[in-house]
Amino acid sequence: MKIIVCENYNEISKEGAKIIADLLREKPDCILGLATGSTPIGMYKELIGMYEAGEISFDRVTSYNLDEYYPIAPTHEQSYRYFMNANLFDHVNIDKTKTFVPNGLTEDPEKEGAAYDAAIEAAGGVDLQVLGIGQNGHIGFNEPDDALIAGTHITSLTDNTIEANSRFFASKADVPTKAFTMGIGSIMKAKKIILLANGTNKHAAVAQMLDDKITTSCPATILKAHPDVILICDRAALNG
Ligand code: F6R
Repeated sequence: MKIIVCENYNEISKEGAKIIADLLREKPDCILGLATGSTPIGMYKELIGMYEAGEISFDRVTSYNLDEYYPIAPTHEQSYRYFMNANLFDHVNIDKTKTFVPNGLTEDPEKEGAAYDAAIEAAGGVDLQVLGIGQNGHIGFNEPDDALIAGTHITSLTDNTIEANSRFFASKADVPTKAFTMGIGSIMKAKKIILLANGTNKHAAVAQMLDDKITTSCPATILKAHPDVILICDRAALNG
């Protein structure tokens, strides 16, 4: 795993945006795998700035998001569809019909999950997957467990994740207890992965991701088996 150590959050955002911008120039019709959460917000802002400056275009891009709460309506302010529109899609020239987020209202999650993976595969696979990391080592919403699931599926959120995400909701009780997530296999199929992490609260998970073991109790450790992962982090996340 390649590591880019940054001085601060702003630099992490710029490094991440630079990698995406390079891909957009090299392959304008690329497939992006996108993440939500607080970490990539600065990177999305950088990309919006580059687009406004005429440096990059999203007009031929297709995107697939990692996850979505379940059940949740796309119009709900805390849905990941709403987040992506507000933090990126509404501000760049992406064709929204080519932006995909798992359907948080589907009545047939199993079918929806399989169709999501099949659509990614049919589109040619994700060229660049953006990831954050949970304090418990989750990637997407693949939570620590005895076994990890390969394909896109519905999962129950751990109390740790519900607690961490309650900052975005009126109360902890309002956080959905389930979510759709790309599976570990779906994530590992991406041709290239960038993982953004900042702050001491991510240090334990980052340290475990960088040790020499792969364990389902820290899902991010599987990334050691991927040939092209770049960790973009600050010293607090790296060294504690
Ligand atoms: C979001 C996602 C999650 C977050 C993780 C970190 O799409 O898949 O795995 O990346 O929970 O969240 P933040 O960035 O809010 O610390």
